[in-house]
Amino acid sequence: MSKTNGSYEKSIVVDGLTKKFVGFTAVDGISFDVRRGEIFGFLGPNGSGKSTTIRMLCGILEPSGGNASVLGIDVAAHPEEIKQRIGYMSQKFSLYDDLTVIENLDFYGGIYGLKNDHLAGRKDFVLEMAGLKGREHELAANLSTGWKQRLALGCAIIHEPEMVFLDEPTGGVDPVSRRNFWEMLYHMAETGTTLFVTTHYMDEAEHCHRLGFIYQGKMIALGTPDQLKQQHMRGEVIEIAIDTSQEALRAVVGAPGVDEAYFYGATIHAKVGSVKRDMPAVGKHLKSLGFKGFSVQSVQPSLEDVFVNLIQDTR
Ligand SMILES: Nc1ncnc2c1ncn2[C@@H]1O[C@H](COP(=O)(O)OP(=O)(O)OP(=O)(O)O)[C@@H](O)[C@H]1O
Ligand SMILES: [Mg+2]
Repeated sequence: MSKTNGSYEKSIVVDGLTKKFVGFTAVDGISFDVRRGEIFGFLGPNGSGKSTTIRMLCGILEPSGGNASVLGIDVAAHPEEIKQRIGYMSQKFSLYDDLTVIENLDFYGGIYGLKNDHLAGRKDFVLEMAGLKGREHELAANLSTGWKQRLALGCAIIHEPEMVFLDEPTGGVDPVSRRNFWEMLYHMAETGTTLFVTTHYMDEAEHCHRLGFIYQGKMIALGTPDQLKQQHMRGEVIEIAIDTSQEALRAVVGAPGVDEAYFYGATIHAKVGSVKRDMPAVGKHLKSLGFKGFSVQSVQPSLEDVFVNLIQDTR
């Protein structure tokens, strides 16, 4: 009996979802929903519970508590039905190294019951979309990480799922390949596919429609990138272009008016109550300690600033 009627309103509805492993709660009562056609970014530090959440939503791992439905299907009650209806690109791309590109697509097409003309049509679509034409007969083992990633996405969407889960799909992939990969995701979202994606790259997070931020198993922030910046960034941010040494960081932390300071690329970011009031004092303080040739400017908080801030507030 099918539990799906295509009339679900939200692609994902999660209420109090929990996963306990022996003596340890990996996902701790999280709640959120994801609309149809949305790109939902799921962020959080290593070990915060992202993959565990995805595996429950894909029907692979049984929840310990709470409720979740995907495409209107209850994940605990009908995990097999979920697996057929969604696409899942796992953190370690699950390709068969000893199969060629086309054989991997055949294999995954077979799992989803695609046959004959339908399968041929979908393979053609995927090869075209992923730019894999001409590589059909290469062994997956011999593909570079960027090509493996494209093939893994192709395998995950061979059955044209309405909803795709991508667990750190761009880890270890160069910036140009990452950009191309995201172009594919945008195109999929524009044509109505809902995407749930985890990433550690803040430039990718900026491009999601909405974000959830999980920390130690708890969802500590939820909203559009702009909302998160407005709601969760107390204070203002100054950027100090200085040698990024521990000594410089300690000096910035010790400056009057600085609440927090952290390395940010090749600079140091400091959170202050008021740029107008505190920025001159920071410059003065650094000079008094003998630092030279640095510059200080006010910057708009980025998502990275917001998340550093959120984690520090939770500690
Ligand atoms: N089968 C398991 N048994 C026990 N503990 C587990 C199991 N699977 C995951 N964990 C633990 O649950 C926590 C969350 O793991 P999870 O893989 O969900 O994190 P993550 O957010 O995906 O991290 P990363 O960014 O490193 O991929 C970690 O502490 C992990 O060690
Ligand atoms: Mg993970």
